[in-house]
Amino acid sequence: MVSVSVSGSRPKTDALVVGVYEGEELAAGEFPGFVHALAQGYRGRMGEALVLYGEEPKRVVVTGLGARARADSRAARRATAVGVRRAAARGISSVAVEMPDEAGWRTAIVQGVGDGLYHFSYHKDPEREASPAVTVVMGSSEPLALELVQSAELVRNWVNLGSNDKPPERLAGYMTEALADTGVEIELLRHDRLKEMGAGAILAVGQGSESPPAILIATYRGAPGDARMLALVGKGITFDSGGLSLKGGEGMMTMKTDMAGAAAVMGAVRALSRSRVPVNVMGIACIAENMPGGHAQRPGDVIKSLNGTHIEVLNTDAEGRLVLADGVALAHERKVDAIVDIATLTGANAAALGGAYAGFLTEQEELKRCLQVAAMKSAEPVWQFPVDDQYRNMIKSPIADIKNVGGRGGGMQVGGLFIGAFAGDTPWAHVDIAGMAYQREAGEGRVQGATAFGCALLAGMAVEYFGQA
Ligand code: BES
Ligand code: MN
Ligand code: ZN
Repeated sequence: MVSVSVSGSRPKTDALVVGVYEGEELAAGEFPGFVHALAQGYRGRMGEALVLYGEEPKRVVVTGLGARARADSRAARRATAVGVRRAAARGISSVAVEMPDEAGWRTAIVQGVGDGLYHFSYHKDPEREASPAVTVVMGSSEPLALELVQSAELVRNWVNLGSNDKPPERLAGYMTEALADTGVEIELLRHDRLKEMGAGAILAVGQGSESPPAILIATYRGAPGDARMLALVGKGITFDSGGLSLKGGEGMMTMKTDMAGAAAVMGAVRALSRSRVPVNVMGIACIAENMPGGHAQRPGDVIKSLNGTHIEVLNTDAEGRLVLADGVALAHERKVDAIVDIATLTGANAAALGGAYAGFLTEQEELKRCLQVAAMKSAEPVWQFPVDDQYRNMIKSPIADIKNVGGRGGGMQVGGLFIGAFAGDTPWAHVDIAGMAYQREAGEGRVQGATAFGCALLAGMAVEYFGQA
């Protein structure tokens, strides 16, 4: 695990990372060599880092935040990641990070350290040097942000794992392990239990696979005096082949990451519980493998979901909304006060937002506010899509209560509103992280692969919902 801490003053370290606004000078004389670097054309543009070598500390990494007027939490997270990644070199065992100490940026800056330090080392580099210990210099201790770094590391590992290494029950096991000793109540609903409960939608998705589906419920009660419960429901498809509506080879290449929503949910629950934040959250991971085996569901099948709704399945590749239909219905059945589902749900979301934002849907002002505040603080940005009956009309079925695909266009909204139909009268929001969960190339100070997007966002959302500063 990476080692990150927070301190009120700058410790003695091998390396120091300092943020600088574009075109502005650092404190005169503090870092010999910086004046020379400016003369050489260093500007402090966003993502532009510069290494200065010296004695004490051995290296200073100046990392650009871009123009002061336009800098935000996202710039701070990215600049931190870029700087930390440059600082972490052979012979550097400790790093201090000094970014502008804006209260609204602290969570983002600490996450930036996690972004910069992460590498996936299950199969490669067993002898790679350990990451340096990083101390972030800021004015408050940020226990949740620090726990989120560790949780995000686990989330990234789960998402980066090949599907052969994470069949549904095994993935549920990894998540359960991560929640050990946190006082979180764990329920694992395996195949037979799901059958008794009538969870026909997740069972239908999983029936083409040799590895049966499961629902993992992790309940953290950190605010016993508050009667409210917030449910976080995540899509956990360990591999999405499309099922009989089979994807092409190219489209399948990253589908080991189709469980990133469920991973983000369990990462958030872990961080909230370990830092004893006074919130009540019920994490629900809907885990299944979508395969085209001999028992696979067929386009045209009508299935009966947990709440009795009959679903006409016309495309087996629209499987995320099916597993989430049961997960959201389960949350509703347990009388939670609000439901947020999160999923790598649609290519339409990724195409519309281009990997810069997660799309969200809600008709609840309060959930919208919580999401937007949390997005700002975590530097995990969200963008609202419209809710409209025109999209709901697209999934009316002539032979069942609802069908799992619409027509042309509005793919993100149609997929999301399908899920919302299972929330009943419970306040509900949907977050589509397709395009955000995984990056094909290194960038923004991060290595190629999983981003853990949603982990800090959901934890922050719970904090906002329960009214903490
Ligand atoms: N997991 C995919 C969505 C996805 C696509 C995530 C690309 C990340 C990157 C989802 O299960 C899917 O296949 N969605 C279909 C829905 C369609 C059949 C209605 C899609 O978006 O094409
Ligand atoms: Mn699919
Ligand atoms: Zn999928």
